[in-house]
Amino acid sequence: MILGICGSPRKKTTHHVLSLALKMLEKRGVETTLFSAHDSKIEFCRHCDFCRKSKRCVHEDDMAELYELLEASKGVILATPVHNGGVSAHLKAMMERTRALLFRNPKALAGKPGMGIAVGGDRNGGQDLTLLEINAFFIMNRMIPVSGGNFGANLGAAFWSRDTLEGVRSDEEGIRSLEMTVNRFAEWVERAGKLRESF
Ligand SMILES: Cc1cc2nc3c(=O)[nH]c(=O)nc-3n(C[C@H](O)[C@H](O)[C@H](O)COP(=O)(O)O)c2cc1C
Repeated sequence: MILGICGSPRKKTTHHVLSLALKMLEKRGVETTLFSAHDSKIEFCRHCDFCRKSKRCVHEDDMAELYELLEASKGVILATPVHNGGVSAHLKAMMERTRALLFRNPKALAGKPGMGIAVGGDRNGGQDLTLLEINAFFIMNRMIPVSGGNFGANLGAAFWSRDTLEGVRSDEEGIRSLEMTVNRFAEWVERAGKLRESF
């Protein structure tokens, strides 16, 4: 199962393009699940270190479901609106809360491919910075960061929404970057099973 995480507090442009990505994967016969910040309750990490000792998080919220999905997944798509040139606070909270999962199972994400989707209201609003932040998370957690490559999807899928659903739907370059990234990501999901056995 491929897990797509939507970091927007609302069901709008990022949710739309993440759903497109998951549909592209489903057409290839890949099972997918979408987890969204907008209908979840996720507390901030308090750095209380409860998880270091107890191997579980002190908070009892929707991260419990996300921990199970992350562990069961064969690959992860992190999709976020660009907020002040980076990932949304909602996605950042989820990223930080994986600390508890990784204390319990340090290999929970190891060897799994990851791809990023960044949706900005401006054409040059920090999509690349946001994708770098996502790719750094993948690297730090022993994942395989996947982009669609040069000539269109250098760091992942990047959209210019003009702050509207119509805007993101008509962003042809964004859709092209999504297709390129999903294609490479699907290839890596196939390859990565064998690689994970060696971790
Ligand atoms: C708090 C906040 C900060 C934002 N910062 C940026 C930004 O730095 N660059 C940008 O291009 N758009 C920025 N935007 C606009 C959103 O990225 C854009 O509207 C996006 O399409 C929203 O995604 P959503 O519809 O999934 O929520 C910001 C929006 C909000 C609410």
